[in-house]
Amino acid sequence: MIDSTLAYLRGDSEGEERRAADIAAILETLCDAAADAGHAVEYAGPRQARLLCRPVAVKRALANLIDNAVKYGGGAHVSLEDAADTLTVRVEDRGPGIPAESLQTVFEPFRRLETSRNRGTGGAGLGLTIARQVAEAHGGTLTLANRRGSGLAAMLRLPRPAAAQASPA
Ligand SMILES: Nc1ncnc2c1ncn2[C@@H]1O[C@H](COP(=O)(O)OP(=O)(O)OP(=O)(O)O)[C@@H](O)[C@H]1O
Ligand SMILES: [Mg+2]
Repeated sequence: MIDSTLAYLRGDSEGEERRAADIAAILETLCDAAADAGHAVEYAGPRQARLLCRPVAVKRALANLIDNAVKYGGGAHVSLEDAADTLTVRVEDRGPGIPAESLQTVFEPFRRLETSRNRGTGGAGLGLTIARQVAEAHGGTLTLANRRGSGLAAMLRLPRPAAAQASPA
């Protein structure tokens, strides 16, 4: 039940075809929407970064990370690095971060830290579970680390299959 629910929520699986998508455009759209809603969210990176992927699923994963940075960290600095073999997205905030002993467990379904429950942010505890599943379904990774000073950094790495190389503009 949980497995099929997660599959549904992450919007992946057989339902979505792989296609060339512009990850930079997806990030700009998400960041603009959050900024329009009054949040301190900014995007820094290339204007275009094409990747063969399941775009709805990837957008869901990125939205979950940005949502967390806004909810728990008060805003997000989102950046994109476009290397030949991998796209790397970083979503960084200046909130309290996550205690070292919880950096792995927060990926488990329905896992929420006591502090976020107390703040009444009202999530289900599925955002990171879904985001990591999307990353792994693309052969990539999602990792969390506390930043020097304060705040959390989420790093999503998506490998670029040879066939996904953007054709010269
Ligand atoms: N940027 C962050 N800073 C501090 N804590 C975080 C951050 N992102 C996630 N967390 C902690 O990890 C927990 C799990 O995050 P996750 O996104 O999986 O679930 P959620 O945000 O609680 O609910 P949902 O995403 O389903 O709405 C959060 O409840 C929060 O305690
Ligand atoms: Mg969340």
